[in-house]
This record gives sequence, C-alpha cells and structure tokens, in this order.
Amino acid sequence: MAGKIPEETIQQIKQSLDIAEVIGDYVQLKKQGRNYFGLCPFHGENSPSFSVSPDKQIYHCFGCGAGGNIFTFITEMENVSFQEAVSKLADRAGVSVDIQIPGERPDRAVSKEEDRMLEAHELLTKFYHHLLVNTKEGQEALQYLQERGFTKNEVETFQIGWSLPQWNFTTTFLQKRGFSVEELERAGLIIQKEEDSYFDRFRGRIMFPLHDDKGKVVAFSGRALHEEKPKYLNSPETAIFNKSRLLYNFHRARSAIRKQHGAILFEGFADVIAAASAGIEAGIATMGTSLTDAHIQQIKRITDQVIICYDGDSAGIQAAYRASEMLSESGCHVKVAMIPDKMDPDDYIKKHGAEKFRDNIIGTALTLMAFKMEYFKQGKNLQDEGQKLAYIEEVLKEIAKLQKAVERDYYLRQIADQFSLSLDALKQQEKQVFFKERKKQPVNRESLTLPAAIPQTTQKLYPAYQTAERRLIAHMLKDVDTAYKVKELMGSEAFNIDEHQAIFTYLLGFYEEENEPDSSIFINFLPDANLRRLVSDIEMMMVSEYVNDEEVHDYIKEIFKYRKKLVIKTKKQQQIAAEKAKDYQTAAQLAMEIVKLKKELKV
Ligand code: CTP
Ligand code: MN
Repeated sequence: MAGKIPEETIQQIKQSLDIAEVIGDYVQLKKQGRNYFGLCPFHGENSPSFSVSPDKQIYHCFGCGAGGNIFTFITEMENVSFQEAVSKLADRAGVSVDIQIPGERPDRAVSKEEDRMLEAHELLTKFYHHLLVNTKEGQEALQYLQERGFTKNEVETFQIGWSLPQWNFTTTFLQKRGFSVEELERAGLIIQKEEDSYFDRFRGRIMFPLHDDKGKVVAFSGRALHEEKPKYLNSPETAIFNKSRLLYNFHRARSAIRKQHGAILFEGFADVIAAASAGIEAGIATMGTSLTDAHIQQIKRITDQVIICYDGDSAGIQAAYRASEMLSESGCHVKVAMIPDKMDPDDYIKKHGAEKFRDNIIGTALTLMAFKMEYFKQGKNLQDEGQKLAYIEEVLKEIAKLQKAVERDYYLRQIADQFSLSLDALKQQEKQVFFKERKKQPVNRESLTLPAAIPQTTQKLYPAYQTAERRLIAHMLKDVDTAYKVKELMGSEAFNIDEHQAIFTYLLGFYEEENEPDSSIFINFLPDANLRRLVSDIEMMMVSEYVNDEEVHDYIKEIFKYRKKLVIKTKKQQQIAAEKAKDYQTAAQLAMEIVKLKKELKV
C-alpha cells in the first residue's frame, strides 16, 4: 500500500506529528484519560463516540466503525489518495518527500491508458456541451431541456451536452486529437462494425457526463430526444467506468451530504438534476442498476443517513424496499420519501414546485418502519379479514425487530388504532412473534439497548470465540513472538471470522518483512478500509501489556471450540436428513461422532 514512498519517510512523518493535533483541525477533541473524544466527522451524531489515541497513533469511531491512522484520516477526510495524504502531512511535518501527484486517484495508480480515456472524456464533455449551448445543431435539444424545466444553470452545472446525429463525428473529432480508434473503442466511445470500420456510440442524444467520485468524467449517458429506444444509452463498462459502483453526482453532493448529515438517493439522474434545481444538493443516483454493496460502501464513507426517494410507481416502491433493507442492514439510518400518484421526483417538482417537494416529500419522509407498514399494504385488500390478519402478522414481525421499547409501543398503538384492536392483545402477540423469531436467529434485546452516551469500548458484547479472536489479534499487534506462537498453535486451522483471518495473514506478512510491531504503520499495509477499521477497533480495546502462554492457549481453545460446535451442528443436520431418508446406519454413525465431539468439547 505504501507504494514507492520509503517506510522511513512514513515513520518520520508520523513521529513528527501529533495525531490529536492533526485531527483536532477537523474535530473538536476533549481529553479524557489517555485518549481524546469528539463528534465523529464521518457520520452525524450528537454524543461523542469518536476517539483518538495519541499513544497508539490511531483513531476509531465506536459509532460508525471509521478508524485508522493519520494518513487514512486525511485520505478519507479530504478524499485524496494515500500519496496525496502523505504529501500533505509531510508538508505539515516539515519532512521532504518526492511525490508527484498529477491527477492521482485514491485507490490505485492510473495507468497511461486510463489517463488517456479520461482525457478523451473530458474533451468530449466540453465539446458536447458547446454543441448544445452554442450551436444551431443543439437548439432543439436545448429547447427540450428548457421545456423539461432544466435551466441554464443546471445545464451548466451538470455539463449537459448534445451529440450530433452523424455516424463518425466523435470518431473523427478525437482521431484528430491523436486518439487511436482502438483506444476509443476500449473507452466505450465508439463501436467497431467491421475490421476497419468504426462508428460513434452516441448519436443525436442529449449527453449527460457521468463523473466518478473525484469529479472526473468516466462515461456518458445519452438520452433520446424523442421516442427512440433505448431512452437512455449508457457507456459500457470500461477500465474507468464501473456501473455498479458509480453514483451520479456523488462528487458534487459530497459536501452537502456531510453538512446535512445525509444523502438523498434517487432512482434516475434526471431526478437528481431536478432536485438540485429545487435546492436539494445532497442528491445522488445509481445508473439504472439497483443498489449494490459497492454503492453502499461509498455512501457510508461519508454518511450513515439516507433518504430514499424513488419513483412512486409500484416498481419504484419495490426497489425502494430492497434498497432500504440493504442500507439498514449495512447500518444506515434509512428514511423513505414517497411520491404520490405514481410520479417520479422530477414530475412532482415540475407539477408542484420546489417548495412542496422539499416540505411535503423530503420533509415528511417516512421512518423505515412506517414505510414498511405502507409497503406491506401493497397488493392486499385490507377489507378482507384473512388478508388483514396476514398484514398485521407481517407488520408485527417487523415491529418485533425494533430495538427500542418506545418505538415498538408507538407502532403497536398505530396498528391498534388503525384496526380497532386491543393494544394489550397486540403487545402479547408481538412478544410471541419476537420469541418465535428469536429462536430462528438469536438477538438479545437487552444488549441492543445499551445507553449510547459513553463510547462503548468495554460494553460491546461479542460471543466468546469472537472476543478470543479479537484479544489474540490485539496481543499479536503488540508482539511478534505472540504472532508466531499463534501461527504455530493454529496450524492449518483459521480464525472463525474471515476478517480476523485476513488481518492475521497480513500481520504475519508485515512481520516477515522485518517490521516492528506498530499498529498505526501496519494499518497502511491493509488494502481494505474494513480491515483498517477493524484493526483500529481492536486496538482501542484495553488488553494487558503482556500475555502469557496459558492465556494464548485459552483463546485458541475458545476458537477451536466454536469450530467444533459448527461441525456438530452440521452433523446434526446430516443426522436428521439421514433419519428422514431412513438411512439408519449413517444416522447412527453420525450420532456416535456427535457424542464423541461433544465429549471433546467438555475437556
Ligand atoms: N435507465 C437506463 N436505460 C433506460 C432507461 C432508464 O439506463 N433505457 C436508467 C437511467 O439511469 C435513468 C434511470 O434508469 O436515470 C431511471 O429511469 P426512468 O425512471 O425511466 O428515467 P427518468 O429519470 O424518469 O427519465 P426521464 O424523466 O428523462 O424520462
Ligand atoms: Mn422522469
């Protein structure tokens, strides 16, 4: 990860800077014991769960899991590459480094080819835009946009353009500027017809440039002017364009999202533009694909609050439901703004104006639970007794998942009112549902409702094997010998949690390269933000300075015990299956194996 920057330089920078001071420029920190605390800059919160450890040279947020060293902090805060962060901090530390950063990207070095692709896109964006706003050829398209309500300002801001309806206009334009047809084809801008003949992908379309998170144009979406199909034509996936990652307008919306502590997720990018014209700057959209984990990861880097504002038709509501589930599973607070009369946000703004959109749609976005209560009504006739009961059952299942008693109470009352039911009866049924569901998937209500005021370092409850794994990692981060000891004891077994195993593997690699234990430097070796966060989280855990062999053995035993339990579980399932299939011999064999394993567990 550290790339070409020498390790000594990184060390030198780190040693000349005080992490609390660097972070103190962005976050108001208060000292408490050995550490500093403040409001996390990476997610909206009211009570401080962000902590900085000057001893360990790391930061960690117990709320959103953000964490790392000074370099990752600057990378994420300023949205710059690792190299750029190093260079900024080197300046501050007065350490001289030789880093060149022309148009560098955060996660990987841009290849020459990719650089040229970006250049072609930039040239074309300017040219298409010029054609739209300044030429006779673009007049009809410009008029269409104006009729749609896109003002000059939006056309300018979003760099909207027009591609001429000719077959090889783009091809010639870029060839003249030194681009080869082969590279243009790989950039997705032109299409190969026969061996030696190419034609423009985008012809006679309104061109919307698609920017990546750094604000570079990496693709286009071209809208038909009339009824031609497809309505929107997108660039294909290329070395610089990943459709299931890109979020339209992300680079522009970023600061508004941070300031307002939340993003607004739309289905179409036309909605983003319309919303911007209505004064909503925090809008982003996927590019005609449903929401992916990669999208969510990007969103979560800057906020954990999302308002979903999809089309009001049934497809839109369905998609909003899926997106809301994914986002909330990833730990985001989700609200859903619903649009009446099957309109999309763009239609609504046109019909009712910006103010109504802000106040009545975004301003009254439903909580996730309230949205689900609407969603489950879809396709049901609530006058029908059976369907009504099915609906109530469905809603109760969701209510049972809520962590706060007041919330559960609130929605139960709503249902009671709505269907004239006794609140007590509903509460009882909700409890039954809760216990029934809990059997399927253990959740501990009490552990979920801890007071949120103090950083929950010691309060987080993990299963024994997970705590054991975390503690082992904490000790291995402190001491090389412990790491090798664990390696030996683990043999061919792995940690139960994949991320722990990954950290373990990287840590061994780190020590193989003769590095001294230093978690804040080790963090630079981890290629994945999740792993970096996890390491900072584990580091914030208090463990004794030294660990004895007995303790290490106990932890390993705990890890193996969990593995055995999993094996027993699988064997039990196999046993049941064998019995069902009347294969009593196998079933008996399995039963014996299970007994043996259970005995081993007790030792
Ligand atoms: N889309 C696409 N290809 C299509 C249709 C749609 O890629 N043939 C994607 C586009 O990214 C679009 C999104 O799906 O932004 C939503 O589609 P739709 O609701 O049909 O578009 P609108 O935003 O309503 O566009 P318009 O108002 O211009 O009709
Ligand atoms: Mn529309």
